[in-house]
Amino acid sequence: MAELSRRERRRQEKRARQAAKNSRSLSTSEALAIASQFYRKGELSRAADICKNVVKTAPGNFDAQQFLGVLSAELGDTDGAVEAFRTATEVKPDDASSHFNLANALDEADRPSEAGLSYRRALELAPNDTDTLINLGTVQRKLGRIEEAIETFLLAATQNPGLVTAHRNLAMAQEDNGDFDAAIASYEKAISLTPKAAEVHIGLAAALRKHNRIDDALAACERARGLAPDSAPLQNQLGTLFATLGNHDKAVTAFKRAVDCAPDDATMHMDLGIALRAKGDIADAIRRYEHALSLDPALGLAHYSLGNALSEYGKLAEAVESYKRAAQTLPDDAPNYNNMGNALIDLGRKEEAVEALRMSIDADPQHAPAHFNIHSVLFDDDDLDPAIAALKASLDADPNNSKTQFFLAMCEELKGDDDAAIASFDKVPLDANGYNHWLDSWDYALRNLGPKAKVFGTGPETHAHAQAATTVDGLTLEFGVRFGTSIRQIAVRTEDAVHGFDGFEGLPEAWHGNPVGEYSTHGELPEVPENVELHVGWFEETIPPFMALHAGPIRFMNIDCDIYSSTKTILDLLNERIVPGTVIVFDEYFCNPSWRQDEFKAFQEAVAQYGWRYEYLSFCPFARQAVVQLLA
Ligand SMILES: C[S@@+](CC[C@H](N)C(=O)[O-])C[C@H]1O[C@@H](n2cnc3c(N)ncnc32)[C@H](O)[C@@H]1O
Repeated sequence: MAELSRRERRRQEKRARQAAKNSRSLSTSEALAIASQFYRKGELSRAADICKNVVKTAPGNFDAQQFLGVLSAELGDTDGAVEAFRTATEVKPDDASSHFNLANALDEADRPSEAGLSYRRALELAPNDTDTLINLGTVQRKLGRIEEAIETFLLAATQNPGLVTAHRNLAMAQEDNGDFDAAIASYEKAISLTPKAAEVHIGLAAALRKHNRIDDALAACERARGLAPDSAPLQNQLGTLFATLGNHDKAVTAFKRAVDCAPDDATMHMDLGIALRAKGDIADAIRRYEHALSLDPALGLAHYSLGNALSEYGKLAEAVESYKRAAQTLPDDAPNYNNMGNALIDLGRKEEAVEALRMSIDADPQHAPAHFNIHSVLFDDDDLDPAIAALKASLDADPNNSKTQFFLAMCEELKGDDDAAIASFDKVPLDANGYNHWLDSWDYALRNLGPKAKVFGTGPETHAHAQAATTVDGLTLEFGVRFGTSIRQIAVRTEDAVHGFDGFEGLPEAWHGNPVGEYSTHGELPEVPENVELHVGWFEETIPPFMALHAGPIRFMNIDCDIYSSTKTILDLLNERIVPGTVIVFDEYFCNPSWRQDEFKAFQEAVAQYGWRYEYLSFCPFARQAVVQLLA
């Protein structure tokens, strides 16, 4: 049986070769008839070969060019299709169908502007053709010409009120335009014409969600579920709805169903990644984004989301690379450059940070976060004007931002411009839930800022200054390592061993509304340079054996464990090693609502208990840090 079909196939191939050869001697209509037979049998390449022979000898044959265009399009040869249909339009300039076909081929070839012109020409010749109107509207939407698209779809819907695609496309364009009432009405019209089309119910659900009608959106999804329970767009829409409701578990479940239904859809994997990140599963989110990008390396939003997740995961250098890849497909995306700038600030790569933040501002001069962040990099307590200008620009874009207003007031006060500072402080709401703690923190810093003390704009600068100020020959320690962001920077500034202490189980107590276990890496240890040694476990368990093995005083330590009890444990257990000259960076020292109950309190108690004298080397309100050095 198999042998026979192989023989049969060979015979067919021979016939086809013969036919292709003969087509040169056959009449044009005979050759096209043979090509049609091959086409009907699904043998498109052979049909196309015959057509190509025909148009070689008879380039002005309209039918042959049209047929060749159709065949080329179906074979995925978009350039060939464009060429054939274009020739057809030249042969018969007044034939609407060839302009319509050419437009379709141009659209397929990702040349939407030219496609739009060809659809327009087709419409001049056949003004009532609703297919042409629908395709023209689709191209206009693709080009971001939403108002025109709405007009075109409205025309299609007026000419053929029963045409579902006209109402559905109109709804989508109205949704793009933010006109959700109109979009909902158009979806409802489409549903009245075809109640069983699940995708229209899903579209309606999306519009209702954007209009904050969440219950109605869920009801629309339920109707769609009754029609197509395994639809990936339905599960995706449900995921988005649950995410909007803050129900991250349900959102993840729905997005997982969506990717099960459409495993090759990169966007669905990305959406699942976004839901996983919102749920706090950063590692899973990263894997999802990477999978989405393996399916579609040009998915800019997935690069951007991956950058955000990597930043949160402490992998800042990788995050920067991800934002750079996002910028290749999203060159005008201000938040992408802003987040890149933030990661570069945390990495201590100031110049690159300024460049990224300026790109964010170029992309959107009204992007307030970029102006705010650039102030921190431009901040110089000897020349505050650039930081002040950046904060003013941020306020221009977002006038009611109290934090920015407060930072402006601080800079003005530090500059000595008291009138401006008073006017700025007056604009900050200082009620119990507002900026009392900021004002209290700033007053404290100003009162304790000695003549040589500095104020810094960024965390890495504060750290670099603190490390450079060390005088004691001794141990370099960090308490609270988490993803290793700060310890990696500390380690590159010294050739000494750096000892990092962390349980990697997160906070042992709730703090600032953060639950027990917040900042956990779930036991995962970060990658660290060779001169770093990690001591894993609760501080009270790891410090005593460490002290037994390592003699000598403390040269430098970074305390970044946030809470009172952990800070107290460190200072009590190490008090004998804290000597005149020891430098301590406290990473959450002030500016938090409960700052007087946290690291600050533990340090002040230790100062009283052990009779320490100290001075402040610097403060950094942006990173909430304070640096002290013990005095003789
Ligand atoms: C804010 S994170 C540290 C961030 C880190 N410096 C960085 O640059 O990414 C605080 C860390 O302190 C750790 N921690 C807090 N109290 C602790 C304790 N008593 N024993 C061990 N680790 C503790 C938590 O596990 C958490 O990783």
